[in-house]
Amino acid sequence: MNMDSVYQYLGFQAQTSDDSETLSRDNLWLFGVATFAVLWAIAWLYRDSLEIQDVNKKHVFVTGCDTGFGNLLCRRLDRRGFRVIAGCLTEKGADDLKRTTGPHLKTVLLDVTSTASIQKAMVWTRQEVGEKGLWGLVNNAGRSLPMGPSEWMRLEDFNSTLKVNMTGVIEMTITFLPLIKQAQGRIVNVASVLGRVAANGGGYCISKFAVESFSDCLRRDIHYFGVKVCIIEPGFFKTGVTSLDPLERELHRLWNQLTSEVKASYGDKYLDNYIQIQRLIMNAVCDSDLSKVTNCMEHALLSAYPRTRYSAGWDAKLWWIPLSYMPSCVIDIGLKLVMPRPAKSV
Ligand SMILES: NC(=O)c1ccc[n+]([C@@H]2O[C@H](COP(=O)([O-])OP(=O)(O)OC[C@H]3O[C@@H](n4cnc5c(N)ncnc54)[C@H](OP(=O)(O)O)[C@@H]3O)[C@@H](O)[C@H]2O)c1
Repeated sequence: MNMDSVYQYLGFQAQTSDDSETLSRDNLWLFGVATFAVLWAIAWLYRDSLEIQDVNKKHVFVTGCDTGFGNLLCRRLDRRGFRVIAGCLTEKGADDLKRTTGPHLKTVLLDVTSTASIQKAMVWTRQEVGEKGLWGLVNNAGRSLPMGPSEWMRLEDFNSTLKVNMTGVIEMTITFLPLIKQAQGRIVNVASVLGRVAANGGGYCISKFAVESFSDCLRRDIHYFGVKVCIIEPGFFKTGVTSLDPLERELHRLWNQLTSEVKASYGDKYLDNYIQIQRLIMNAVCDSDLSKVTNCMEHALLSAYPRTRYSAGWDAKLWWIPLSYMPSCVIDIGLKLVMPRPAKSV
């Protein structure tokens, strides 16, 4: 078969001169690359859609289930037939959740900042799951407060967030790992786009960067045992962690603990301007459809081939994640343009 008949077969015009032969050869390459890309995308989508079997024999432990993503995830996993163990911080949260779910969902009181509470939950879970082990651990519990300019924080302000979002995730994972290994299951860690782009002072961004790196190290260390580690990176959603009233109350508290010298360097109007801009941004970006996040968590638990990272929400996919690959000066300039200037800035 000569090249002319190949070109004709592919719909290209037969060429005669040297130049047009090169052009047709380029077209052939293009066609080959496009075909490969389409086939690769079809194979990826097919692989991504494959699900595990025997869901109703698998146990999943979720932390922070009183409200928000954790609460919705438990209800959805329960409907799917999973044996859900919901870690709730309060009795009221546990009772409310039980009222809206089936008899298979069990709740356990859990404070991820307390070693005793984590140990107690693990012993109870070990009895519950038996020889099968634990299929999934979703480290979802988290808090955002206090958030604000770094200079306004004391060490205990950083620690109050790190204790829940960072140390809590690490201790829960290490404690429950033997049960996960037994089931060759999954660990699903909830990070944030603020674990990719550090846009706020306080412990929140630090803790979410820590969750990202802890999860990466863990995934590389334990894949030998058939355990998978997935990271969820939600954008901004309307939940407890983005609720404006507590965020603003905490900003006032931080302001009130500053010395008069530091206050003077920011000026009288700074706090009000800061709060106004924060309100404007949060109202503009926060999405109320929490299922965008729980869909990712469900995929991580149900898929035969879970992804390493899931970005949830349009702001994450189109803004925050692309921004995280840009030079730091782009984010520096963007924030400089948006945030208020202190009175004594140079
Ligand atoms: N919403 C967002 O825009 C967003 C974006 C990116 C990532 N995330 C992450 O998503 C996760 C879930 O947050 P959410 O948005 O669903 O907010 P949420 O409704 O406030 O959920 C967080 C849950 O964690 C619980 N919790 C707090 N401290 C705890 C502790 N020491 N031990 C156990 N549980 C504790 C909270 O209980 P109480 O309500 O009783 O305090 C609450 O039920 C967090 O890790 C958060 O950082 C959220």
